[in-house]
Amino acid sequence: MTVGGGVFSIADPSERKFKKFSDRELIRKLLSYILKYRQNLLIVGVSLAFAAVVGVAGPYLVAIVALNDIFAGKFWGYTGVVGAIALYAVLYIVNYLTENKRTYHMQIMGQNVIQDIRRDAFVKLQELSPAYYSKHETGRIMSYITNDVDALADFVTFQLPLVLSGFVVIISIIPWMFYLSTSLTLASLVVVPPLVVLTLAFQGRIQTSYVETRKKIAIVTAKLAEGISGVRVTQSFVEEDRVNKDFDVVNTENLDANLRAVKLTSMFSAIVQLIEAGGIALVIWYGTTLVLSGRTNAGTVVAFLLYMTAFFSPIIQLTTFYNSYQSAVTGLDRVMQVLETPIEVPPPGDPKRLPESSEPPRIDFRHVTFGYEPSVVVIKDLSFTIHSQEVVAIVGPTGAGKSSIVNLLLRFYDPQRGQITMDGVDIRDLSFEEFRRKMSVVPQDPILFMGSIIDNIRYGRENIPNEVVFETARKLGLDDFVSRLSKGYDTIINESATNLSMGQKQLICFARAIVGDPRVLILDEATSGVDPVTEIQIQKALDIALKGRTAIIIAHRLSTIRLADRIIVLRDGRIFEEGSFSELMSIENGAFAKMYAMQFARAVT
Ligand SMILES: Nc1ncnc2c1ncn2[C@@H]1O[C@H](COP(=O)(O)OP(=O)(O)OP(=O)(O)O)[C@@H](O)[C@H]1O
Ligand SMILES: [Mg+2]
Repeated sequence: MTVGGGVFSIADPSERKFKKFSDRELIRKLLSYILKYRQNLLIVGVSLAFAAVVGVAGPYLVAIVALNDIFAGKFWGYTGVVGAIALYAVLYIVNYLTENKRTYHMQIMGQNVIQDIRRDAFVKLQELSPAYYSKHETGRIMSYITNDVDALADFVTFQLPLVLSGFVVIISIIPWMFYLSTSLTLASLVVVPPLVVLTLAFQGRIQTSYVETRKKIAIVTAKLAEGISGVRVTQSFVEEDRVNKDFDVVNTENLDANLRAVKLTSMFSAIVQLIEAGGIALVIWYGTTLVLSGRTNAGTVVAFLLYMTAFFSPIIQLTTFYNSYQSAVTGLDRVMQVLETPIEVPPPGDPKRLPESSEPPRIDFRHVTFGYEPSVVVIKDLSFTIHSQEVVAIVGPTGAGKSSIVNLLLRFYDPQRGQITMDGVDIRDLSFEEFRRKMSVVPQDPILFMGSIIDNIRYGRENIPNEVVFETARKLGLDDFVSRLSKGYDTIINESATNLSMGQKQLICFARAIVGDPRVLILDEATSGVDPVTEIQIQKALDIALKGRTAIIIAHRLSTIRLADRIIVLRDGRIFEEGSFSELMSIENGAFAKMYAMQFARAVT
């Protein structure tokens, strides 16, 4: 984030001014979702066909049959008139009923399509590696899946059916109009070329303005998410005013973007109405001259005027439709950008298997070079081996690349050079299931899910019996604080676990890591957290937990470091020193020895 004019600007480098996919690609994609609901579509199609029949027959019955009969003075044709009007009424009643069905089935289809798109997006989000999330803000992604999909929903379930039926009517009316009178039809269609030119002229600008609105609402959502998650810090710094002002800025920008879009579309719609009025006037004038010269009758002209209304109402709707369409395609474009994001750590096409063994695996880093940005190297030509059942501690200053090693080992990222192997097999050749299931991680910042404490410990492994969970928790000393909670292990942890202390969260994460008896344990130790008494308890538990496992512990506490068979001192992504505790301590002026002295000095003062 950069500070600009007192406001945190949240420019996303991945944001673009225009859409990434063409309309054609987007519509094809949308169709692939819609076509899953063929049955509903069939019902909609039949109902639309009926609407077309009514659209053609209605004006014909009223104007040509009824009106012409009256003008022709055929009063004994009165039954004919009544009959025509009765038929007209029946047609419209049936049309009303089928229209109801049509709306209903369109809704079913639309809602399902939206649900499918949201589900696919969520599945994709679960698949994307942390690399994606470090480049995209959560709030923004949420906006894609909520606001943008909502825009799509409005289009698919509401606007599309409306305009679709309008256009079916138009398409069926035109040949019929030609049949009634070619010259009047041509007069009615005089307005079409200006309409086409107008649409083309406005299209680009309206589209750009809608891309802008989608972008702005995403920023508003991102700010909202940030505002909520950061509220404690904001309040403690009494920065509410500034945060509110920041929000005002993006909120107003969103308003402005929407107003700009509305201004353009209302201008468009006003011009369309003007053209319509002109068109109708033209038909009246031309129709009258035809009637006066006896070349046609009044009924036909009236029928034409009715047809023109049927003709124009979808075109007028077209402007709202156009808004909705633009919102929808730009929204879909964003969702598609998520759906089509290439997975940075692709699973292997033909996964290998690890050699059968109940032994904890051996892990090798071989000349691994890695940077989150390829130009900023974080891990430099790093090689080390962790033997089966060996406990290796990684220590080093903040930013040295310790957590990055864990990220690589879990294959959240792939190295730019070199390879990481488990029992000699490159982890890129293993299915995620195969190697991640062997490992358990206690991350540096504890992450808990909404749900009970027991479910959080057991996370996703339903087959672990309650007793095992309780036993693990007891060993780690969770019992103490859990028993003080009103519902014990069934206590629900709220969103972002604000009802627990940091140390308690860490303990739960620790329990989660070891309850499944993993072959490899990875511990990214947080510096703070638990009190000395609990710390001793964790040390004891760790001592037991590490037995018979391959382990990497990123250690900040000396008590943890002492548990290691070997210690790697990391600095700037390179191994600086390596050896057992006593070996490292015996290096004169060694980095580890100095660090130890400093911690020890701090502990006694
Ligand atoms: N997602 C990321 N995107 C870009 N750079 C990152 C990312 N995560 C970490 N870095 C950078 O990589 C370097 C190593 O970070 P890392 O998290 O591995 O440090 P660490 O040794 O675990 O530090 P600490 O002891 O503070 O946890 C740092 O310079 C950091 O700025
Ligand atoms: Mg770290």
